[in-house]
Amino acid sequence: MTDMPQIALRNVTHAYKTDDGPLPVLRDLNIDIPEGEFCAVVGPSGCGKSTLTRLIAGLMRADEGDVILHGEMVKGPKNTVGMAFQNPVLLEWRTIMDNVLLPLEIVPTKLTKAQQRERAMSLLELVGLRGFEDKRPSELSGGMRQRASLCRAIVHKPEVLILDEPFGALDAFTREDLWQTMHNLRAEEPFTALLITHDLRESIFLADEVVVLSGRPATAQYKLKVTFEGERKLDDLYTQKATDMLSILRHQIEIAQGRVPNDNSGGEAA
Ligand SMILES: Nc1ncnc2c1ncn2[C@@H]1O[C@H](COP(=O)(O)OP(=O)(O)O)[C@@H](O)[C@H]1O
Ligand SMILES: [Mg+2]
Repeated sequence: MTDMPQIALRNVTHAYKTDDGPLPVLRDLNIDIPEGEFCAVVGPSGCGKSTLTRLIAGLMRADEGDVILHGEMVKGPKNTVGMAFQNPVLLEWRTIMDNVLLPLEIVPTKLTKAQQRERAMSLLELVGLRGFEDKRPSELSGGMRQRASLCRAIVHKPEVLILDEPFGALDAFTREDLWQTMHNLRAEEPFTALLITHDLRESIFLADEVVVLSGRPATAQYKLKVTFEGERKLDDLYTQKATDMLSILRHQIEIAQGRVPNDNSGGEAA
């Protein structure tokens, strides 16, 4: 553990070039995520959340500012980053096991083939997919596919995990199951996570800190430390503390959407 944040965005500013001229998407965005912490990012639709994940993953460069992963500027894709998206994009011609093993075919590893399978198997077990390793993706439910895609995202032990609305397409109960799975994975596998979500309950259940982005061009409008005590349980979401946090976040989203004036003044505001 060091004091250096594992993920740092420093004054990140970006615009897309479009036929109608530049479209400013991110403006002076600053986010610090310490090693091992889980940060959720929420914000209005189209404000630049997926853009942010592409910048951290090194899939594109920001016009201005720095994206820093453990002290190093991101200049291109790194294999110390794992990603999962709303659509799990598993390869249908591969079994679930072979889908999970995919990153190990790309990222250099010291593991033997047998050790790789063993590692994939233990992750599948952890997310409740033991017995499904030889199935094809289409034989699994949406929730199961997303579990498999989480295993694939972390099979190569990335330092950083980027999740772009991975539970967005699932029904409410499956989603809550997956939240619990996420906690189980986190207890077993050390990683620093950034989760994009539009579900405020999900953000406070999973994250140590929630960052609310403003409308486009997005900047960090508000940061909320999540302060549940001990191991998180779904019941925590029905407490007064949760209601208070959710009401703050909902209000901040309304500000970000331009529905109510911005009354942020010091405090926890970014
Ligand atoms: N490659 C691109 N070229 C031009 N505009 C883009 C591109 N990707 C996204 N955009 C636009 O940038 C804005 C932010 O997109 P995105 O980061 O996907 O938002 P979010 O994930 O918050 O919904 C949107 O208005 C979107 O239409
Ligand atoms: Mg998006």
